[in-house]
Amino acid sequence: MADVFSAKQKFEKLFSEYFSAEAAFAFWKGRVALYAILKVLGVGEGDEVILPGYTCVMDVNPIAYVGAKSVFVDIKPDTYNFNTQLLENKITLNTKAIIAQHTYGYPCDMDAVMQIARKHNIPVIEDCCLSFGSKYKGKTVGTFGKAAYFSFQWNKPFTTGLGGMVITNDSELAKDIEQLCRKELVKPGFCETAMLAAQLAVYRAFIYPRTTALAQTVFRYLTKKGAVVGSSSTCEFQPEIPGNFFKAMSCVQAKSGIRQLRKIETNIAHRKKTAKLYDKLLSEKGWDIRDYDENVMEPVMVRYPVRIKEKDKALVKAARAGIELGSWFECPLHPIETPMQMYGYETGMCPESEKASKEVVNLPVHPRVSEKTVEKTVDFITQFTPAFKEIRS
Ligand SMILES: Cc1ncc(COP(=O)(O)O)c(C=O)c1O
Repeated sequence: MADVFSAKQKFEKLFSEYFSAEAAFAFWKGRVALYAILKVLGVGEGDEVILPGYTCVMDVNPIAYVGAKSVFVDIKPDTYNFNTQLLENKITLNTKAIIAQHTYGYPCDMDAVMQIARKHNIPVIEDCCLSFGSKYKGKTVGTFGKAAYFSFQWNKPFTTGLGGMVITNDSELAKDIEQLCRKELVKPGFCETAMLAAQLAVYRAFIYPRTTALAQTVFRYLTKKGAVVGSSSTCEFQPEIPGNFFKAMSCVQAKSGIRQLRKIETNIAHRKKTAKLYDKLLSEKGWDIRDYDENVMEPVMVRYPVRIKEKDKALVKAARAGIELGSWFECPLHPIETPMQMYGYETGMCPESEKASKEVVNLPVHPRVSEKTVEKTVDFITQFTPAFKEIRS
């Protein structure tokens, strides 16, 4: 058992050092990390938490678990982050936190977010699940707000199978999280940890861009049958907290995290280089490409989003052709199975998000993507009709 804690503690230490943070706390999943932050901030019944209406429902669930209400802000069509011009209007006397989600690797407009948050004295929580190492005005995302959280699930900047982390520079908050963990955190079970270790081994051996679509189909089927440790069980598509939700990171995840963190600079450099190659090849085909101010942001993409008109058709064709094409987000509170009204989302609340959900597919940039894969992916995606130009005009 001592080993369990030493691997977890070592990962936490290395992680906090990477971000020069006061403290880091590792959890079973990213959503558990967010839950811990909300709990120690005292967010509860009747409170409101603001976040973009272009997210994963697993980000929204912890807000419901503590009894608070999610308030959704529409996104900007170029960065997919919440539109800060719409943010202030959403603040009420009940607002207890703002979640700044850095989507696909693009940092939020942190000057605007922090200025609004300070004016109203509301803590900012950064969702860095899709952005590891991105910078805004030279400062790494995750170091602006009161706390930040990360996910290490399969699709994330690096993976430990499942996993989550909180970082904070606020010593009071760190003390409170430590206390909460001491009182309430449960240990992962032997079977689920062993299963996750086996899944990680399969992932390392067999999952490449050509095999991803097939692997995802098999994995989703096995998850429904309860035969593997899935990212989300069926009960996690409801706003009620499942049993044993507040779970610690296992030794297997922590050891994998330590190995990944050692390779993080290579991972980041690869993502930057690969995204630039997509920029080049797509623009050669006459497609609009990423449009951001390099003096303001230095994004490290988790995936490369493009907009097309025939999203559904492209996803089916890609799976058949062995092209790794991501579909998220498929709706404002991904995935499409989400009963959005149960979370307070009504159709029409975030029009830009709903449009993006219908049009955006995302291309891989992870370390297993070679230049050849990028070329093949660009050849594939440019068979379809781009939708980006229309959006921006
Ligand atoms: C933006 C965002 N935040 C949070 C989460 C939750 O992370 P986890 O799956 O590790 O709980 C996800 C999940 O994929 C996500 O996409």
